[in-house]
Amino acid sequence: MLSSEAIKISNICCIGAGYVGGPTMAVIAKMCPDINVHVLDNNESKIKLWNSKDLNNLPVYEPGLSSLIHECRGKNLFFSTDIKKNISRSEIIFMAVNTPTKTYGSGKGMAADLTFIEKCSRQILKYSKSDKIVVEKSTLPVKTAEKIKSILGNSNTNINFEVVSNPEFLAEGSAINDLFKSDRVLIGGESTKSGISAVQTLCRIYSRWIPKEKILTTNVWSSELSKLVSNAFLAQRISSINSISALCEKTGADISEVSSAVGMDKRIGKYFLNSSVGFGGSCFKKDILNLVYLSKFYGLHEVADYWHQVVKINEYQMNRFFLTILNNLFQTVYKKNLSIFGWAFKKNTNDSRESASIYVSTNLLIEGAILNIYDPKVESSKIINDLEFALKNHGKSKIEISTIINSQIKIHNDLYESVIDSHAIAILTEWDIFKELNWKRIYKFMVKPAFVFDGRRIVDEFKLKKIGLNVFKIGS
Ligand code: NAD
Ligand code: UGA
Repeated sequence: MLSSEAIKISNICCIGAGYVGGPTMAVIAKMCPDINVHVLDNNESKIKLWNSKDLNNLPVYEPGLSSLIHECRGKNLFFSTDIKKNISRSEIIFMAVNTPTKTYGSGKGMAADLTFIEKCSRQILKYSKSDKIVVEKSTLPVKTAEKIKSILGNSNTNINFEVVSNPEFLAEGSAINDLFKSDRVLIGGESTKSGISAVQTLCRIYSRWIPKEKILTTNVWSSELSKLVSNAFLAQRISSINSISALCEKTGADISEVSSAVGMDKRIGKYFLNSSVGFGGSCFKKDILNLVYLSKFYGLHEVADYWHQVVKINEYQMNRFFLTILNNLFQTVYKKNLSIFGWAFKKNTNDSRESASIYVSTNLLIEGAILNIYDPKVESSKIINDLEFALKNHGKSKIEISTIINSQIKIHNDLYESVIDSHAIAILTEWDIFKELNWKRIYKFMVKPAFVFDGRRIVDEFKLKKIGLNVFKIGS
């Protein structure tokens, strides 16, 4: 319900110009032409890319994003590193900074690292000269708003900071569509007069394009927790179906048939039941680990163990896929050329964070394989960075890492070149182009017996087998 208490908004800013900040603010700018939207980041080169003339060069690849940027940038959408000025002039400040898993100290490997959120909060406190609505857009542990409030409460002035939780549910690859047609917009606020007014102000913005019945208002803690739980439920479905894929491979059942049969029950539903080499992306693993950590923190060890299993099954699935490749190639890939199709964690994004490709490829490199990698969108430098980081985590020294990178990795711009003298192809991202390949041509280039390991279930195995390829499809 809207009331006259909603505040008039002229300027909005968002701290964090990443995969969430960029697309989210572009959509707000498009739908609110009367509001100036400023997207801020302390990473200068990222802001330069957001401002670059070449729209193919934006830091985030998302279908539909570049045309939105083209339409709004310079009119009411601005990308800037000037955090001070834009905090000062905005009535609403979104925080869309990264909240990775902690890599050090207490809670290492589990808890969310709130360093960036704390820094943002301190910047807001420092540069604010008038009342602000501070919006948690980042995914955060339940009760974070309390911590933000305690930082913002240290003002010597009478400025009122209202902290509102408004988690983001977009998925990469379909972000623009998800933002225009959200299943729901969740806004959690306090039930004080100023809290209600802040929630209503945000509702007014979203209600310009989201039907009112899809805008859900709750208390702050329910909103913060619902985001973690949504991701946990989604990931749980993938781990559930992936666990069954292992059983299918043993019994002759087929995972696609099982998914269809199970998903036709409308209480279960058909979405998110595609078996794969394992889920990737920057959020599922970190958000579930965050949930596990929170449960342990509150002494709920059974709850923690239950959710932890979702991540463990995902690791099991990625490892199972790697072992399938190794075992089928006569237990050795040493000095064998292998082709990796796809580096992004899913199609239609240039993001490779936590991609199953990293896990599978790193293990193959350690076994001595020579990898020929092709992805239509992920930059070579990103692929190399991912592998360097993963090899370091495997305990490899700097010299060992540089030897592996120089002698065992080739990154290709041409997919057909990447299969020359290859013993096997591993399909790790479901890019549409992989569904329309000239397999006869590919087979000719390969060493025989030639293998295809399909971690995304996208090839027609009967057609490929007819050509002469040995095909392994996860879950069949
Ligand atoms: P990202 O790494 O792509 O972007 C975060 C940006 O924040 C970076 O560019 C970084 O330089 C900037 N930043 C950090 N601290 C800053 C500071 N103090 N001042 C200015 N800039 C600062 O991260 P993302 O993928 O956009 O995710 C952001 C948050 O949204 C995370 O909490 C994530 O869990 C959540 N989320 C992500 C997605 C997704 O699909 N990626 C979807 C929903 C929610
Ligand atoms: C996910 C959620 O879907 C979003 O709602 C959420 O906002 C976001 O995380 C977040 O908080 O970051 P995203 O990770 O971008 O979005 O993409 P998904 O479509 O969820 O895919 C995640 C991974 O699961 C991908 O590797 C994908 O290939 C895999 N997946 C997905 C499967 O293996 N099977 C499926 O059936 C669906």
